[in-house]
Amino acid sequence: MTSTEPSAPPADRFRADVLAGLSRPRKQLPAKYFYDAAGSRLFDAITELPEYYPTRTELGILRARAGEMAARCGPRCLLVELGAGSLTKVRLLLDHLGRPAGYVPVDVSGDHLRGAAAALAGDYPALTVIPVVTDFARPFRLPDVTAARRVAFFPGSTIGNFDPPEADALLRRVARLVGPGGGLLLGIDLRKDAAVLERAYNDAAGVTAAFNRNLLVRINRELGADFDPAAFRHVAFYDRACSRVEMHLVSTTAQRARVGDAAFAFRPGESIHTENSYKYDVAEFATRAAACRLRLDETWTDPHGDFAVLYLTAV
Ligand code: SAH
Ligand code: AVI
Repeated sequence: MTSTEPSAPPADRFRADVLAGLSRPRKQLPAKYFYDAAGSRLFDAITELPEYYPTRTELGILRARAGEMAARCGPRCLLVELGAGSLTKVRLLLDHLGRPAGYVPVDVSGDHLRGAAAALAGDYPALTVIPVVTDFARPFRLPDVTAARRVAFFPGSTIGNFDPPEADALLRRVARLVGPGGGLLLGIDLRKDAAVLERAYNDAAGVTAAFNRNLLVRINRELGADFDPAAFRHVAFYDRACSRVEMHLVSTTAQRARVGDAAFAFRPGESIHTENSYKYDVAEFATRAAACRLRLDETWTDPHGDFAVLYLTAV
């Protein structure tokens, strides 16, 4: 296994983003900062929850259709996974791909990615694995690997954590990254009953709440802040008009928190908006993707139509 650019998001950018987000009239924090080592472990625990249907549903689609997906990717492709996490889903694809030129998992959660990539390289000794620790929403260079085609694998509906203008910018960036004829194998979560969606983000065991509060724990540790995470309530609900689940941390009391030299006041009930998770309709998504130079070639869904995996070609 080789690796390139092993750098975490710079601490000064993290600080600047946190200060800017908390200074807004409606406080917010970027969702990508959930993922320190503890956040990645908490996300893995979320994927095991009975209420959190997306992971097992997408895994079911991959298990049933990985052969067809691999055929779309073609032989000797360079597979680039965005937001790769624990590299669980890609194994199903790798088992069907014809002699891939290499596998490049990309993630901001550096230690977690390096550990997962080392384990994968051990299990697939013939595969060239090159982890890249970076923010995939910012420009980054791919390692120089000769391949028949580049294919981006972007599972989990992580695209849904981006607001539409940023999601479109990301789709355009991916189209450029893979180049004309390159592919994007993309997982998207679909619109469904609000009760199902709200259960998925309000699990009985409180794991999603811990994941949400871990953002404050991380800010305390890395930015010298003094948030009391227990004084913020986890709130998640489906906003049908925006077609998204919103997650918030809501102050249970009037309080102040210091981040370095800056101080922020919270009213009782005041929220920090920590995440959006957009839910899609395949036909609408295909129209948007086409405007980003990505043509929808094939769609795979589960029997209930809860989740979809799309193969798109950059044109
Ligand atoms: N792909 C996995 C993990 C999804 S969780 C799955 O489908 O289960 C989202 C992953 O994306 C996390 O591992 C997180 O660290 C990563 N991530 C989120 N925003 C990112 C960004 N802007 N750049 C790079 N990685 C990001
Ligand atoms: C990674 N992402 C797609 C997850 C989601 O469902 O939006 C993150 C998550 N947030 C709460 N639970 C899971």
